Amino acid sequence: MNELLLIVFAYLIGSIPTAVWLSKTMFGIDIRDYGSGNAGATNTFRVLGSKWGTIVMVVDILKGVLATSLYIFLNSYLQNELHRTNLMIGLGLAAVIGHIFPIWANFKGGKGVATLLGMAVAIQPLVALCCIGVFLLVLYLTRFVSLSSILAGVAFMVFILFIFNERETLYRIFAVMVALMVVLTHQKNIGRILKGTESKVPILKYRDR
Ligand code: G3P
Repeated sequence: MNELLLIVFAYLIGSIPTAVWLSKTMFGIDIRDYGSGNAGATNTFRVLGSKWGTIVMVVDILKGVLATSLYIFLNSYLQNELHRTNLMIGLGLAAVIGHIFPIWANFKGGKGVATLLGMAVAIQPLVALCCIGVFLLVLYLTRFVSLSSILAGVAFMVFILFIFNERETLYRIFAVMVALMVVLTHQKNIGRILKGTESKVPILKYRDR
């Protein structure tokens, strides 16, 4: 099995549309027709409640961890740390792209935050932990999940570039890409925050409608 095959496999894992399949199977609805329209954990919390939201969040994080860990199938990468990290970044990004543009759900997926977190946990657990701290702090202060996600993604870049002072170029590019991705995928949320219409906490369950 070569690198390209693994990257494709990582994309297919990331493409598993957890929120879409769960909402269709368990409730006969497409999560993308409700709430923010996003096929992610936050919208599942919002529309279907905390139990299902937690399941989507855990599965989406695991997609990132699993896809990023596929390098173990290439023996040569186990020895060389630099090569291994580069491949892990490629695999993780393929999974995140799969999550955002899933082949199994008409290329309309989520914003990639949970899968990015899973990827960060696999590559840089300590930085991932710091980002979770930023996420929880912003959530506590503002109650905007979207803003918390954006600032956690930007914090990832800051931690890698300036706090942990990572020297490897690909790593540094990757860190900038994470910050850009969270901002780009949250454009609608940013618009709603500026207009004052972004929902602060999950408020409406489909079952209560
Ligand atoms: O991870 C997605 C979250 O940051 C925002 O989700 O549904 O409020 O657009 P949502």
